[in-house]
Amino acid sequence: MAKKIVIAIDGHSSCGKSTMAKELAQSIGYTYIDTGAMYRAVTLYGLEKGYIKDGEICEEALRKDISSIHITFERTAEGNLITFLNGKNVENKIRTMEVSDNVSLVSKLKFVREAMVAQQQEMGRKKGVVLDGRDIGSVVFPDAELKVFITATPEVRAERRMKELLAKGENVTFDQVLKNLQERDRIDSTRKESPLVMAPDALLLDNSGLSKEEQRCWLLNEFYKTAGLE
Ligand code: DC
Repeated sequence: MAKKIVIAIDGHSSCGKSTMAKELAQSIGYTYIDTGAMYRAVTLYGLEKGYIKDGEICEEALRKDISSIHITFERTAEGNLITFLNGKNVENKIRTMEVSDNVSLVSKLKFVREAMVAQQQEMGRKKGVVLDGRDIGSVVFPDAELKVFITATPEVRAERRMKELLAKGENVTFDQVLKNLQERDRIDSTRKESPLVMAPDALLLDNSGLSKEEQRCWLLNEFYKTAGLE
């Protein structure tokens, strides 16, 4: 039987990381773990509890609750991943602009990262997983056998994200989305705790000009090379 490996997919916001990671996991029979969804779920928790308001966060209140915040995933019959926050389906709620606007406040906190990283390491302990995020190859699974760092120009990413939000009925402009994305890039790359960096042994993929199919083939090819199934 082929050996199971850990696949770490990191990169900027709205590069299509999740879609790519999810499709790869499905094609090779691996479990997909959306780590961004976990930070989004903690953000939703903070918003619902009133710990986050007007761009400010009450860190102490969130710290007190962190050990009782559990995030799990379930797969639908169609293969989609649903995020649960303490047993409640929050998949739609975590994708709103309100959560996107506040998630960087939460994901920069050390105690939040420690708690999420521990949950992610536990989920990937048996290998056979594809994780996407910002610090998978650098912090969560530094020994991952295959690491990919994905990027695309901010304009291409904003265009893709805007289409997604409009399709969901959120009324947003291109400028709003571009600003949110650039601000998240800035915070993600400059934060003290686990900033977004490309691991030295990661493969770089700029998908600005690539079709989904081209990407899919590229990734599958890298997987087969790494897992020794060529
Ligand atoms: O991938 P995403 O856009 O759903 O991620 C939401 C936010 O969570 C993003 O602004 C960065 C943060 N994040 C993180 O800090 N570390 C991860 N492993 C995944 C996401």
